[in-house]
Amino acid sequence: MLFRRPVVSALIGPSILSANFADLGKDVCAVLKSGADYIHVDVMDGHFVPNLSMGPAVCAAVRRAAPRAWIDVHLMITNPADFVDPFLAAGANNLTFHIETVRKPAALVRQIQSKGATAGIAIKPATPWTAIKSLLSLADVFLVMSVHPGFSGQKFLRSALPKVRAIRERISDNQRVELDGGVTPQNAQMCRRAGCDALVSGSEIFESKNYARVITALRSG
Ligand code: DX5
Ligand code: ZN
Repeated sequence: MLFRRPVVSALIGPSILSANFADLGKDVCAVLKSGADYIHVDVMDGHFVPNLSMGPAVCAAVRRAAPRAWIDVHLMITNPADFVDPFLAAGANNLTFHIETVRKPAALVRQIQSKGATAGIAIKPATPWTAIKSLLSLADVFLVMSVHPGFSGQKFLRSALPKVRAIRERISDNQRVELDGGVTPQNAQMCRRAGCDALVSGSEIFESKNYARVITALRSG
């Protein structure tokens, strides 16, 4: 027992970007039944990132399929403030916007929180953690991207881990560091040990035949 490594665990949020859109409700229910802690919804506008994905109508569909799920919306869009109300009306619990897109991030965090949701701030791989230093006491979630935003199935960028560590050291237990992109059962332990409270995973979960096995491995394997 002396040499047994301690298990550090994290919350797991499947990204429905890799789900079967033709049967989304079924996939959402299946990952929740398989142990997912929350559902991650990737919103892309073809402007901030070079891809288009889903809008409030899809978020509302997830809410209908899973009335009690925690829905985490990741806004990879140029004008996140314009979409706070539509996504909250569609049932989102957390709204995360990118620091690279807004001029007054503190005001947007407060706007989201004042409407009863939690607020997250995301940073791209090229953005240092110090870009959000002044917001560390304010937001609820800090999303560190470990791939270039826009697509699922990309290779994990290890340069995200020192940022996770730096942020985790400076926030409280009520706040969360979330890592997003290229997370696999092979690198999950390293991510959790760096201080991740929550891990997003798209392709690894939805392309597997056994969601529960992958979710368990990501959480504590
Ligand atoms: C990328 C998205 C991620 C991505 C995760 O822009 O924010 O959530 O879909 O997918 P995987 O786990 O396949 O990298
Ligand atoms: Zn995401």
